Amino acid sequence: MTDAAIPVCASADLVDGGDGVRFPVGTRDGQTTAFVVRFQGLVRGYLNRCAHVGVELDWDPGKFFDRSGLYLMCATHGAIYAPESGRCAGGPCRGQGLRVVTVEERDGQVWFVPDPSTFAPPSVRPII
Ligand code: FES
Repeated sequence: MTDAAIPVCASADLVDGGDGVRFPVGTRDGQTTAFVVRFQGLVRGYLNRCAHVGVELDWDPGKFFDRSGLYLMCATHGAIYAPESGRCAGGPCRGQGLRVVTVEERDGQVWFVPDPSTFAPPSVRPII
């Protein structure tokens, strides 16, 4: 088990191409949210911040995928991102991507693994 990992949700909460789960994180710019989704069987984590303007992506909490279930989509102007990498796949993100947040899945649980740039906000205590 990785030191200081923080539980996000149960593995069963993430369906392939389905709703994601948001969770709070701290960054050098202050507290914000990140999210996890499942795509092609694997859990992916990103900062919930569009590369275009910097707003949250989801059009309703946890709604990150477009209708096809193949891309993550920003609700504001429709930028789309590849779920497996966070790279811009079309729209106003223009070659920029989502910031990856380190996550792990084990023992039926999804975990956020803090690092120096994306860490636990003060209100969340890591499990060591
Ligand atoms: S803010 Fe996301 S596409 Fe413009």
